[in-house]
Amino acid sequence: MSILNRKKVVLAISAGIAAYKAAFLVRLLIKKGAEVRVILTPEALDFVTPLTLSTLSKNPVEWQFNDAEGNWNNHVELGLWADLMIVAPATANTISKMADGASGNLLLAVYLSAKCPVYVAPAMDLDMYRHPSTKENLKKLESFGNLIIPAESGELASGLSGEGRMAEPENIISFLENNLESKAPLYRKKVLVSAGPTYELIDPVRFVGNFSSGKMGIEIAKAAADMGATVTLICGPSSISTQGYDINRTDVISAKEMQAAMEFNYPDSDIVIMSAAVADYRPETVADKKIKKDGDEMVLKLVKNPDILFGLGQKKKNQILVGFALETNDEVENAKSKLDRKNLDMIVLNSMQDKEAGFRKDTNKVSFITKDKEVIGHEAKNKSEVAKDILNFILEKFDV
Ligand code: C5P
Repeated sequence: MSILNRKKVVLAISAGIAAYKAAFLVRLLIKKGAEVRVILTPEALDFVTPLTLSTLSKNPVEWQFNDAEGNWNNHVELGLWADLMIVAPATANTISKMADGASGNLLLAVYLSAKCPVYVAPAMDLDMYRHPSTKENLKKLESFGNLIIPAESGELASGLSGEGRMAEPENIISFLENNLESKAPLYRKKVLVSAGPTYELIDPVRFVGNFSSGKMGIEIAKAAADMGATVTLICGPSSISTQGYDINRTDVISAKEMQAAMEFNYPDSDIVIMSAAVADYRPETVADKKIKKDGDEMVLKLVKNPDILFGLGQKKKNQILVGFALETNDEVENAKSKLDRKNLDMIVLNSMQDKEAGFRKDTNKVSFITKDKEVIGHEAKNKSEVAKDILNFILEKFDV
């Protein structure tokens, strides 16, 4: 899957003949899994229709500060929504206005409001492209941190031939992918995550299990994928989908199955995060037929499950190994001793005493504890935010 998968892209089209190619660019971005919102300068409407662009992008297209019903098209909201903005084609006129900080149309106002990386694909006649003022303006945009996608050489609409053609949509996509990959903090890193409960069968229809939803581990897997990692998720029974994410998911039921899948993927992983709520015990025997309710009592003999994380700790080579701890008392002390006993690099402690933490909740309140026994507490946050905190902390603290 492309690094553009799930990226929120504002495609800004200014009034050049290459605007027709923007339709192909939208198509390619959508194919790569990006979410695209198109904006135009009012003059660009002479070159390409909103209907084409809204159909291809599956989103409304905007070019004015307010729509026909008088609703405000919020440029600040669009600028903040985007993970990246692409100005393609960027005419000499739009480039000069961007360099000057003008905000006379929606495209320019979105550009000024954008907090994300902005990519500029110039498109103009060769003499305009060569002109010192255009060169100055492009340099100025680069000095603001914008990225210029160099124009290509070839036939131009004027009939002349030379530099100034907008980069072909395929080349714009390659430029974006290369640039985003070089900036993705976990690009080419292998992240292995376990999530969810395990179910230990009593008979074909009954099990011993726990209330874990899998939310925390799945959010970690999603966040790692968004940071460019190659992610493998070993997931106990959970209804939460990972559709749309570049995640290799293996669904398992029991602790033994989870152990086999974790051990199989462990040797070539860089970061391993064991967030599953593994059942500590399983029934000694599994009946092959549904057990009848014959007597008034039923005795179920349980035997200990393997401690998957302990086993991984024993085999540790270069992996950064992270465990979770859910404690009800002497939390920090218990978590620290778990860290040592299981040979972990870090443990994420969530306390049962916090109402924001725990099973089936959308929020979690965690502390990170590392080998040097430093305890870093966090406030309660959404599990997706906690997932990012965990991965950012790993990137900061360890040599990944
Ligand atoms: O020892 P305790 O169950 O509190 O440790 C929690 C950590 O150990 C979690 O990361 C959990 O995923 C892992 N674990 C495991 N195998 C078990 C029990 C827990 O890997 N059988």
